[in-house]
Amino acid sequence: AAVKQYQFDIQVKNVSRLCHAKPVVTVNGMYPGPTIYAREGDRVLINVTNHAQYNMSIHWHGLKQYRNGWADGPAYITQCPIQTGNSYAYDFNVTGQRGTLWWHAHISWLRATVYGAIVIMPKEGTPFPFPQPHMEANILLGEWWNTDVETLVKQGNVLGLPPNMSDAHTINGKPGPLFPCSEKHTYALEVEQGKTYLLRIINAALNDELFFAIAGHSMTVVEIDAVYVKPLTTQAILIAPGQTTNVLVRADQAPGRYFMATRTFMDVPIPVDNKTATAIFQYKGVPNTVIPTLPQLPAPNDTVFALNYNKKLRSLNIPQFPADVPLKVDRKLFYIIGLGANPCPTCLNGTRLTASLNNISFVMPQIALLQAHYFDITGVFRTDFPDKPPTPFNYTGAPLTANLRTAQGTRVSKIAFNSTVELVLQDTNLLTVESHPFHLHGYNFFVVGTGIGNFDPAKDPAKYNLVDPPERNTVGVPTGGWTAIRFRADNPGVWFMHCHLELHTGWGLKTAFVVEDGPGPEYSVLPPPEDLPPC
Ligand code: C2O
Repeated sequence: AAVKQYQFDIQVKNVSRLCHAKPVVTVNGMYPGPTIYAREGDRVLINVTNHAQYNMSIHWHGLKQYRNGWADGPAYITQCPIQTGNSYAYDFNVTGQRGTLWWHAHISWLRATVYGAIVIMPKEGTPFPFPQPHMEANILLGEWWNTDVETLVKQGNVLGLPPNMSDAHTINGKPGPLFPCSEKHTYALEVEQGKTYLLRIINAALNDELFFAIAGHSMTVVEIDAVYVKPLTTQAILIAPGQTTNVLVRADQAPGRYFMATRTFMDVPIPVDNKTATAIFQYKGVPNTVIPTLPQLPAPNDTVFALNYNKKLRSLNIPQFPADVPLKVDRKLFYIIGLGANPCPTCLNGTRLTASLNNISFVMPQIALLQAHYFDITGVFRTDFPDKPPTPFNYTGAPLTANLRTAQGTRVSKIAFNSTVELVLQDTNLLTVESHPFHLHGYNFFVVGTGIGNFDPAKDPAKYNLVDPPERNTVGVPTGGWTAIRFRADNPGVWFMHCHLELHTGWGLKTAFVVEDGPGPEYSVLPPPEDLPPC
């Protein structure tokens, strides 16, 4: 095993897209930021120095950080921010994981521009469990706003204005030629006929689940969230913010230029963003004057495609990479997802949209939860987050406007070390139904079941897949439906769980699990590093 070292300088740089230039926060002046390369078993040391006038914190999304929440990164959950002029070295081991993950700022909405790929190669001498690609490429899907991030945050979270849609989607930071002034901001991947390519696709968008397809070419999904899956051949993939998907693509068509394209999946009864970002799958030697063709993407509200696609994903589950699904459950949790509105004196019309789990909108603390937990600082959080909703109702029936006001608090659940947990996430029709990509820090979980309507505890568990369910760190809870996940709480610490739509996170759609220490120091949270940013 090696030590991979990186220096991340947080600096503001002018970037222009869509005929607008604006200063954006970057790592080393790059947008998107640099790729982290490591091998399974390596130690990674990333020194982050903050030269910008914003507080910073970086999350290594999907890295398990065993006993080492200090390196996880969500601001005020595992650490206080790195202030201007200060540095913090994220120091972690990559144990038992290989594949595509990613990193992003985890404070305010700065991940709009502060993000990059993490590529973890299998151990030396261990091949991929699929045909070796000729070459690989990272495909980072994102969003671009002409306005600056601070204005966006203010609009949604201070003034209580409705969501501000991005001005473009992007592929590797570039919107592609269907947008104004974007001919020069088009990503192209050069391919040779007959060869196979591994695309590492990452959804780094702030608020949009996305479809992605390549004109004329099918893709074979081989890995999701850095876990191998049974090969799945498809014309389009669905990918939620936070998720990663590796696909194999064979350049098996007539030499030409083909668009790769991405567009929103959002099944809500309001106008959705249907702008299409494009990049080019470019056969070697074909002149740039050839006009590329567009792929057919599912319609923005194609929930049927979304459900079917997700249901087809299965863990590879071979002896070398078993799906270790917990069969017996020690702790059952049932969380309902609601939208609502709370009084807001600073807002334009006196209320602000909120979002809640079990009717609780999470309030960010002033001291990082992990520090409060480790040093036994009282008064920072409460451990009485309810295991089920206060009053059951018909969650997905006719739209409900009653009960819109949510309770607020920094409330979390305490979980016994090494216990097995089942969590059912149930969408509700409070204000409206919507799909929510839920991300759990510090763990992968198995997605054992999903369905439309209300979860039925008498019938649905019998239909669970306990053999080869997909194992992920982020899962889409379907519009007006539910998703059941299981995991073993073997990683002590404080682990954030939230909707990966930044807008909803800001509205309070988040909580945390405090997983208790196990028996003895080797099963307990490690001591904090000396350079941990002070609160
Ligand atoms: Cu990718 Cu809590 O984040």
